[in-house]
Parts: sequence; structure tokens; C-alpha cells
Amino acid sequence: MKVLVAVASKHGATREIADEIGNTLRAKLGERAEVEVLFAANVATIAGYDAVVLGSAVYMGHWMTEATDFVHRYQEALRTMPVWMFSSGPVGTPPKPLEEPLEIGKLRWLAYARGHRVFAGRIDRHRLGLGDRAVVAALRVHDGDYRNWEEIRSWAATIATALRRVRERAHTP
Ligand SMILES: Cc1cc2nc3c(=O)[nH]c(=O)nc-3n(C[C@H](O)[C@H](O)[C@H](O)COP(=O)(O)O)c2cc1C
Repeated sequence: MKVLVAVASKHGATREIADEIGNTLRAKLGERAEVEVLFAANVATIAGYDAVVLGSAVYMGHWMTEATDFVHRYQEALRTMPVWMFSSGPVGTPPKPLEEPLEIGKLRWLAYARGHRVFAGRIDRHRLGLGDRAVVAALRVHDGDYRNWEEIRSWAATIATALRRVRERAHTP
């Protein structure tokens, strides 16, 4: 079984979440599964994959273009395999905003995604350009890494369980 974890990330926080999801899937699915983590923009084809986990950072309420393009580009193939989506966005204590990315309902529908999960993200002013820094200052958001690794790993573990079931069903005569 081949699993693709594709991700759109501007400053690296969401990429690290994708890497952690990939590590958890590898650990839980064992040697018979091949798990690849790639930037969504670098994926040239999804032929050969049996499942996809797609994630994006959220900026100004939206998924990044690389991730939405990925869904539009591969929607037909995505509908033939199990797909999960995740977002990395809300920051602060408690993490805000609570709203899901604006296009997620449509994207889930296009890919027949089984689920979508929002994870808290990371803000590090030093990594931001001037424009983004001004937005963060205006919103009075404090720097911090709000990612909850336990939550991320346990979500990935539920995906591994679902994929094991898919694999067992495929091998049942
Ligand atoms: C300018 C700016 C706008 C943001 N807008 C949102 C938003 O609308 N919703 C949200 O949940 N997070 C928002 N965030 C938080 C980021 O999505 C979060 O920090 C994320 O983890 C960054 O991921 P990345 O490092 O992979 O780019 C914003 C961050 C910045 C700097």
C-alpha cells in the first residue's frame, strides 16, 4: 500500500505536522506500507497511491493555493481512494479563529474526503515578511508554537486503523 501525505506550508509549521503524520503512519502500518511526504506543489501524479492525506496552512481564512490546486487537479483520482484533509491555523490560548477554512466544505466534497481536522499552528514573527507581520500585529496575535503533537499523532493513528481495514478488505477473497 502506498500512502501520500501532501502539504502546503509557507513557513514550515504545517510541513512538520505532515512529517509527523507520515512518521505515525509508517510506524503503525509497518513495512508493507510505503508512506511519502511531499509538498503538494511538487506532486506530478497521484497514480500508484492508494490513499492521500492532504494538509494546508491557513492564511486569512483560506487554504493555500498549492493545496486547493492539488484537489482541483486530482479530484477524479482522489474520489477513487480514501482521502483525509487537515489544516494548520489557529494560534493563541485558546487557539483562534475557530472557523474552518472557507473552501473546506467544497474541497471535501470534490475529493469525497472522509474527514477534515484543524490543528493549532505556529506563529514566529521572525519568519514572516513585512506584510504578514503587520497583519499579526494588527490582530494582536502572540508568537508561539501551539501545535499539539499528541493530538496530531492520535489523528494519524485513526487513519492508520482505517487503512489497515482497507488493506484487509482488499485481501479478503
Ligand atoms: C498573516 C497571517 C494570517 C493568518 N491567518 C490565519 C487564519 O485566517 N486562520 C487561521 O487559522 N490561522 C491563520 N494564521 C496562522 C497560520 O496559519 C499558522 O501560524 C500556521 O501554523 C502557519 O503554517 P506554516 O508555517 O506551514 O505556513 C495566519 C498567520 C499569518 C502570519
